[in-house]
Amino acid sequence: MSLTPLYTTAQIRRRVEELAMALDERFGKHSTPHLIGVLKGGFVFLADLMRAMSRPTTVDFVRVESYNSATTSSGTPQLIESPSMNLRNRDVVIVEDIVDTGLTLETVRQHLLTKQPRSLSTVALLDKQVRRQIDVPLDLVGFRVGDEFIVGYGLDINEMHRELSYLTVVAR
Ligand code: IMP
Ligand code: MG
Repeated sequence: MSLTPLYTTAQIRRRVEELAMALDERFGKHSTPHLIGVLKGGFVFLADLMRAMSRPTTVDFVRVESYNSATTSSGTPQLIESPSMNLRNRDVVIVEDIVDTGLTLETVRQHLLTKQPRSLSTVALLDKQVRRQIDVPLDLVGFRVGDEFIVGYGLDINEMHRELSYLTVVAR
């Protein structure tokens, strides 16, 4: 399996800082946004994003299982949430690693909307727009990418390469 560098650690850091600044500005002065990471891929991005923000945040995670094999989606995402999640009147931000077909993000969004947050925003590090199957609102995007399989910075192929501090393309 060969890996071709896509974005360096420094490029990612700079972009995450810009996204953090944009997120900071979205909410009222007294808001403490609640960041909800989509496991597992989103955890590295979320950890850097929340530390780059300059206001207090709280954090939780959901887990969506949609990948049967290494690189193809099953198309029926299953959502698992933590039992304590109370979102009423919170400014909620869904933090995703990559939006591909859009099915995962839309599943999470529809579920969280039933919990009556004050607002619901979406931020994704990567947007693979050419693969989209459903239209899902994305408020902030780190980088737009093509139809390639990307690993590193939390993203995996068969659970491998999440630990890389940069993003690379896997040659298929
Ligand atoms: P979607 O439901 O098709 O939008 O898929 C979203 C999820 O699939 C992401 O949260 C990732 O976990 C995974 N995924 C999609 N494309 C890639 C990729 O290029 N590399 C690693 N994971 C990916
Ligand atoms: Mg994911």
